[in-house]
Amino acid sequence: MENKHVTNTTLPFSSVLQQRLGRRDVLKGAAGLGATSTVMASLGLSGCTDGGRPYRQLGFAAIPPSLEDYVTLPEGYAAKVVYALGDPLTAEGADYSNAGTESDFNERAGDHHDGMGYYPLPFDSDNSTNGLLVMNHENITQQYLHANGPTSGQRPAQEIRKEVSAHGVSVVEITRDGGDAAVVRDSLFNRRITALTPMRLSGPVAGSEFVATAFDPNGLTSRGTLNNCANGYTPWGTYLTCEENWHGYFKTDEAEPGREVTRYGIGSSSNYGWETAAGDASEVADEFTRWDITPRADSASQDYRNEANTFGWIVEIDPYDPTSTPIKRTSMGRIRHEGCIPSRSLPGQPLAFYMGDDNRGDYIYKFVTAATYQPGVSNGSMLDDGILYAARFDANGRGAWLPLTLDNPALAAAFGSMAELLVNTRTAADIVGATPMDRPEWAAVDPRSGEVYMTLTNNKYRGVREDQPVDAANPRSYAADADATDSDGNDNGHIIRWREDGDRADATGFIWDIPLFGARPDAPPDVNVSGLTMDNALSSPDGLWFNERRPDSPLWIQTDDGAMRDLTNNQILAALPGQVGDGRVTAIGDQITYVGAPLGTDLRRFLVGPKGCEITGIAMTPDARALFINIQHPGENGTLDELESSWPHPAGDATTPPQPGQRPRSATVMITRRDGGVIGE
Ligand code: FEO
Ligand code: CA
Ligand code: CA
Repeated sequence: MENKHVTNTTLPFSSVLQQRLGRRDVLKGAAGLGATSTVMASLGLSGCTDGGRPYRQLGFAAIPPSLEDYVTLPEGYAAKVVYALGDPLTAEGADYSNAGTESDFNERAGDHHDGMGYYPLPFDSDNSTNGLLVMNHENITQQYLHANGPTSGQRPAQEIRKEVSAHGVSVVEITRDGGDAAVVRDSLFNRRITALTPMRLSGPVAGSEFVATAFDPNGLTSRGTLNNCANGYTPWGTYLTCEENWHGYFKTDEAEPGREVTRYGIGSSSNYGWETAAGDASEVADEFTRWDITPRADSASQDYRNEANTFGWIVEIDPYDPTSTPIKRTSMGRIRHEGCIPSRSLPGQPLAFYMGDDNRGDYIYKFVTAATYQPGVSNGSMLDDGILYAARFDANGRGAWLPLTLDNPALAAAFGSMAELLVNTRTAADIVGATPMDRPEWAAVDPRSGEVYMTLTNNKYRGVREDQPVDAANPRSYAADADATDSDGNDNGHIIRWREDGDRADATGFIWDIPLFGARPDAPPDVNVSGLTMDNALSSPDGLWFNERRPDSPLWIQTDDGAMRDLTNNQILAALPGQVGDGRVTAIGDQITYVGAPLGTDLRRFLVGPKGCEITGIAMTPDARALFINIQHPGENGTLDELESSWPHPAGDATTPPQPGQRPRSATVMITRRDGGVIGE
């Protein structure tokens, strides 16, 4: 449609103020700058003469895009590989052959390093030379994991066991000395949690009929965590791992399965065929049978029809106790969880945890604890009792948190219990009218203001499918190529942010705007709305992080992009964002929306990864002088015969061209400044 390509029109603030605030009295006579300050005051924002932009600068020069098969960084920075796929976690473990011959990843680094946290030793210390890295292993690049690639059709039991154990989470102790770091191979903290590790269920779903299985007819325990994508943390020192695309590991032969199956996309075949070895002579405790959720027996306690109901949760792990059982916190909902980021920890106030459901047209959620945060007293039980909300973004620039509770008659009519509601979280959010978003990924909370940012990575259905028309919070639908006539939806993604009313974690309303739109630098202005240049063009933002220890922390942005790979490999950028309301009201095509102030040189490219990777997982030491990131699935588009990437070089410098012919490996990289300074600032 032609009118999708009209140039941005900046509208006077006064014409939309009334809508945005929903308060007529504020508007009388308000226009221009005066109106802006009236808006700011009425929204309770702190006065700021620079549109909220902090008076500070990024401490590095932007680097150019890169298509090289190694990591590139600003001048003065170094990058070392510290923990790669297959690295041993025991003193006696042999070095990884990288030939696909190892059989057991229970004592080695898993694949597809993803969300990650740094946990100083001991907890709550500022130890920046010795700590635990805790990280997700989201998935596998199957072709590189086996000596000759995977067997198709009927899968051998040993291949499946290897794949099951290459998923999950690592806890690994590291020591650091300046720009050097090493895994402590004999650490008692080192641990792998896999898709088979025993877990405990807690919250309303625990012990309910919806999670009764042959493994535990009482529905109190389950096995494994899967497709752990982004992460979260708690102020009491635990790690939150988030189960994302777990549905793809299951299959069902049922002709008409229930909403807890269909609304999450489980189909008649699984990604890896782990169920195909069911009945193998070596099978232990239904380890293969459980991936087929077709009802086969007389009751749920005799088969695995409910096995998939034990996935889709936030899982709390205590990395400081290697004997602890991971706990699935069912109060926080069952979705394709991306991340789980807490609000600022303010003593005496409840905590909110912000979460995205990464699916085209799915929702943003927050869980608000019933208890208030008490330093030194609060613990994981705080995550069992509270209210789960789904977000609605309104055309007037405000938003509402919609409670998913049985107090709502429509929800009480649909669900017989909170257990049933939570197993069907997506359906509950459908019923209350949450806003379908452009694939919500990571969240980040600005330690300075408490404002929340969330990546909306891309959505090819936006404005293309009738059930996902453009709206104020998801305003772009455009042809990705200059010559194309049909819309590709929102091909490059954007970042939305909001500020809770009264700056309260338990607010039920908020204001929002869009501080950043991904785009090619040469895209027309109604696509490149943020005015990106070769120094900061990005597409499909995914990872997002503020260093919660530093009020001056930049916002770190990581990409997982396929749309702009001709221009650059995936990357990290750093930004100095302002605050909600610092920009303008704009029409993109016919759609009015709220756009943050352009970032200009306050958004800079910091790092570019090797070929075929996504960049994810971000953490710093307390002194902010070592940055850890994850290079996930380098060379994922290659084959054993035709490698796309051979990164990393075995000598461990992430910036060195790799050795040709070597299989690529996902890996954790530590970035330091050669002068020992704070990263990025
Ligand atoms: Fe695992 Fe949504 O990225
Ligand atoms: Ca992600
Ligand atoms: Ca992604």
